[in-house]
Amino acid sequence: MKIIKVKNNEEAGVVAAQIIEQKIQTNPQCVLGLATGSTPISTYQHLIKDYQNQKVSFKDVITYNLDEYQGLLGTHPESYRYFMNGKLFNHIDIKIENTHVPSGTDTKNPAVYDELIQQAGGIDLQLLGIGVNGHIGFNEPGTSFDSLTSVVDLTPSTIQMNARFFASVDLVPTKAVSMGLKTIMQSKQILLLATGANKAEAVAHLVNGEVSPAWPCTILQTHPDVIVIIDQEAGSMLK
Ligand code: F6R
Repeated sequence: MKIIKVKNNEEAGVVAAQIIEQKIQTNPQCVLGLATGSTPISTYQHLIKDYQNQKVSFKDVITYNLDEYQGLLGTHPESYRYFMNGKLFNHIDIKIENTHVPSGTDTKNPAVYDELIQQAGGIDLQLLGIGVNGHIGFNEPGTSFDSLTSVVDLTPSTIQMNARFFASVDLVPTKAVSMGLKTIMQSKQILLLATGANKAEAVAHLVNGEVSPAWPCTILQTHPDVIVIIDQEAGSMLK
């Protein structure tokens, strides 16, 4: 695990965008795994800026997002498809048909998503955030390390945390479709971003904790190629 320490979320975005752009320059047809949430927004802003300055093109890039709320259509303003279109895809030259977000409404056979990823040659670089409880994707504490893409229950703490995006906590879906931990671990390289004081405990487990489903992020200690970008606050509990 390679750790890059930065000052704040803005600086994390600059560094993460550089790493993603290097990947695209090496392989313009690369497959990127993408995340939603607050943390990667600055990364997406830098990717958009660099695209506008003709430093990078996404015209042959393929993307697979980590997760989607169950029951939300991609047109719902709080769906992750809507988030990705608005925060990134609509502002770069990616072909929208090359972008994939798990369906929140057609959830009969979620593991089809893993087959699609495999058919695309696997994920070259997976971008991750991290939950306060150590979740990656929506793989909450207790999730099997062997899990593939499936419908998962969100914990009350995650529902509370994500209520900030909805008009009221009752409107937050209680289930999501998420890539599994095995799906994530099959990515060739992983780039995790953690910023803010509320991530400090999860980061301490990620880096130094015992590998255990109690903190799903700890599985990343066993992946051969992980880069973690942490800001001062998120790194404040590291020894
Ligand atoms: C998002 C995802 C989640 C978030 C995590 C952190 O697609 O899978 O694991 O990365 O909940 O969210 P933020 O960045 O909002 O703190």
